[in-house]
Amino acid sequence: MANEKTYAMLKPGVLERKIVGEIISRFEKKGLRIAALKLRKIPRELCEQHYAEHKDKPFFSELVNYVTGGPVVTMVISGEEAISTVRKICGATKPAEAAPGTIRGDYGAVVTKNVIHASDSPESAAREIKLFFETEEVIDYPTGDETYLV
Ligand code: RTP
Ligand code: MG
Repeated sequence: MANEKTYAMLKPGVLERKIVGEIISRFEKKGLRIAALKLRKIPRELCEQHYAEHKDKPFFSELVNYVTGGPVVTMVISGEEAISTVRKICGATKPAEAAPGTIRGDYGAVVTKNVIHASDSPESAAREIKLFFETEEVIDYPTGDETYLV
């Protein structure tokens, strides 16, 4: 058992479709908690830094154009094994391959517009949280989870 923090980002289509609440609710119901939350338009440079590992891939510019094309919701999610749990709740990268019941399986159809980003490792989580949030913006607080989820 390990308490972890991970970074997640709802892509612009989520705001346009007005499904922010539904998506965030899935993490809360699982017993994870929101440790930081912000609606913002991210500058191209920050987005390119965030997706730097993909800079030579053919989909890079399409991805950056999409994610900087409208507001996103940036979040830090914390809880037991939050990094792998959030990835599982998101589902496979390609919506066509994502299992029903996962966010990408239930809401997406196009890979670039696959609803959500989530950190894929402890190293990525630490790097991405730092890119998007100041230390004091990430908040720990008691939720009573211990009563129901342990
Ligand atoms: P993410 O980083 O967004 O959580 O997604 P991921 O780990 O599941 O997938 P990754 O390989 O890191 O890809 C980052 C984002 O790039 C878009 N993508 N497009 N056209 C394509 O073949 C393609 N492959 C990836 C997706 O939007 C993916 O979320
Ligand atoms: Mg990734």
